[in-house]
Amino acid sequence: MSWKIERHSIKEMDLNNEESLFSLGNGYIGVRGNFEESYGRAVPTVRGTYLNAFHDVIDIPYGEKLFAFPDTQQKMLNVIDGQTIHIYLGKEKEHFSIQEGEVVEYGRILHLDKGKTLRSIKWRSPLGKEVEVQFERVVSFVHRELFFIKVSVIPLNFSETITIVSTLDGEVENFVDPGDPRVGAGHAKLLHVNESEVLGESAFLKSKAERSKLEMACLSYHKGLDDKLVDVSKEADEQRIVFTYEYQADQAKPVVFSKWNIYVDDLRHNGDLRQKAVRIKGQLDSIHENQLLEAQEKYLKQYWERSDVEVDGDEALQEGIRFNLYHLLQSAGRDKFSNITAKGLSGEGYEGHYFWDTEIYMIPVFLMTAPDLAKQLLVYRHSILDNARNRALEMGHNQGALFPWRTINGEECSSYFPAGTAQYHISADIAYSYIQYYHATGDEDFLMDYGAEVLMETARLWIDMGHFRKDGTFGIDNVTGPDEYTCIVNNNYYTNAMAKHNLEWAYRVYEKMKTWEDNDVEKLWERLDLSGKEVESFKRAAEGMYLPYNESLQINAQDDSFLNKAVWDFENTPKEHYPLLLHFHPLTLYRYQVCKQADTVLAHFLLEDYSDEETIHHSYDYYERITTHDSSLSSCVFSMMASKLGDMDKAYHYFEETARLDLDNTHGNTKDGLHMANMGGTWMAIVFGFAGLRIKPEGLHLMPKLPEEWNSYAFHLHYYGRPIKVKVSRDGIALDLVEGDSVKLFVNGEEVEVIPGETTKLAF
Ligand code: BGC
Repeated sequence: MSWKIERHSIKEMDLNNEESLFSLGNGYIGVRGNFEESYGRAVPTVRGTYLNAFHDVIDIPYGEKLFAFPDTQQKMLNVIDGQTIHIYLGKEKEHFSIQEGEVVEYGRILHLDKGKTLRSIKWRSPLGKEVEVQFERVVSFVHRELFFIKVSVIPLNFSETITIVSTLDGEVENFVDPGDPRVGAGHAKLLHVNESEVLGESAFLKSKAERSKLEMACLSYHKGLDDKLVDVSKEADEQRIVFTYEYQADQAKPVVFSKWNIYVDDLRHNGDLRQKAVRIKGQLDSIHENQLLEAQEKYLKQYWERSDVEVDGDEALQEGIRFNLYHLLQSAGRDKFSNITAKGLSGEGYEGHYFWDTEIYMIPVFLMTAPDLAKQLLVYRHSILDNARNRALEMGHNQGALFPWRTINGEECSSYFPAGTAQYHISADIAYSYIQYYHATGDEDFLMDYGAEVLMETARLWIDMGHFRKDGTFGIDNVTGPDEYTCIVNNNYYTNAMAKHNLEWAYRVYEKMKTWEDNDVEKLWERLDLSGKEVESFKRAAEGMYLPYNESLQINAQDDSFLNKAVWDFENTPKEHYPLLLHFHPLTLYRYQVCKQADTVLAHFLLEDYSDEETIHHSYDYYERITTHDSSLSSCVFSMMASKLGDMDKAYHYFEETARLDLDNTHGNTKDGLHMANMGGTWMAIVFGFAGLRIKPEGLHLMPKLPEEWNSYAFHLHYYGRPIKVKVSRDGIALDLVEGDSVKLFVNGEEVEVIPGETTKLAF
């Protein structure tokens, strides 16, 4: 089965999308799939290189600024460009470019198993010189700071000079689009070079962000220079450094040239950045490029061994699944400074901010396939807990932690509070993720060192935020749920259900940790000034939590007022008015029953035990009719829930919408970056959807179904450190323990033991 994403022709209007599709990353560096030589005139492009979490701070301009609106926000910066390489042929120095001469043959491939891209072009110059040029790129998973490019130029019908000009360019800007709220509107140029130097055979540029004062640097050098080399020259100015290599090329013999870019920044690399970069170069000097490629492939082999989903029955969807899993791996931050931005490291949409997307749509994938990465993402949230505490105070609460709706460094970035700060559910989503992590790993140390504190502080927020009402139930007012077409409401079902879970588990964890007889536990409660009495209040609020229900429709109401509103006039809304957010004032949208994305339906997936099956079914039918899926976070949820409800046609249909969303650019904005939550949602639609996985305190539950379009599908789960392979086919369900001691799971409600060396086979 294919491990390649390929393109064999150049369509200029697609190139900008392809920059996202062919982007490379390793959780730290992200490089868009730009052409080294650029496209030439008037072809839209976003040329970008990013370092996860490397940002500047900018003012938020308000017409009317009210109390506790954030003054500033952060913006992930486009950093020093190490991509640029130009090729010139002959004495005439004809510039190799798709805008000149003739492209005779073209192909580009993203190798999902090798972790690299390859672009090959056979080209005829205006004066008739023919060359075959190949660019190979790797952003190393093993050497975090390295972005590597190898160029090979074969003169096909001439023996003459070939000139390769490699640039390190500090004159970079961010992309802006004032017409689209999902992209940054201003502040293009925020990063300025403050050191430019040729260090022997290396180029070195260092830049500083205007306000955050964060610094980053790139050291770039070349290797593989052969005996055909006749001249090297170097030019440096304040913004860029240009190395020119002149070769006397022989017909049919390749000129091979490699560029090694080392990226460092002062979030991760303390001290002198130049020294750090030079030291890393020293380590890389002993590594041959073949070793680099081998190490990359080995890393990916291990990733795929535990993360691949194999589908027998649809090649196009298989391609989508692997593509999405690959980009998830490329985007996940691996240190306490970083997380997964809404667009990964593939573009500038949403300005490199981290949202609830990570906890609800991406951590579940890592938790079940690469738990170490899931853990790292949770470590990041813990690292911004103090910001969340401060934000709660700033927002008028007396206690607790309110996590920012969107952020990089932990401070709230959302300027439009109705669809931003008001989404208090993010705090419960984060808590949910810590609880799921605990259920899946049983990692008590992590609970002690990170999880418990987050759970207690978020629980405190709900106590402060909500109130007991006259009827004795606990209500939460003035919040926005996940559906951004309905804002500032009382008792959003999703928020209340998630808060209930947060409170319930804060209580349970406290009770559990009491039994550990560990001094550190006492110290933690002391540090948090947390008493058993306070924890009792969590329990009471959880038990009393009001979950809106409408008797006549037999559904959970999205909130107290939602069902009293008029239903949106879908029939008379032309196709080109979607997404509605680009065509209607928010207040218009808020007045109607119209959902941008799954809200109550998502709560029914995450917390299925809070409602009965009939209510879940009726709610699905009701909300499906009024949901536009204008957000890419929606169709995967509808797929998962359709699977649960046994409507496999619908489940499959929504899955199709999900799996190839970026590959087919169905939302029309892949150029701004990939839709990371949807990528996680693809895996979830298979594993939580078709296979019915639920991670519960007593263990993993599966309830597998097979879409009739497929012959089989297989995937891996990790439970308590044990990888388990699950295969669902026409013959039934097969479970194999890949490593470790036997383990118990629940399949269709029955307990099953999976034993080493034996395939456990079950009927549907
Ligand atoms: C969605 C949010 C999401 C954000 C970032 C918005 O369009 O409505 O739920 O967090 O995109 O992906």
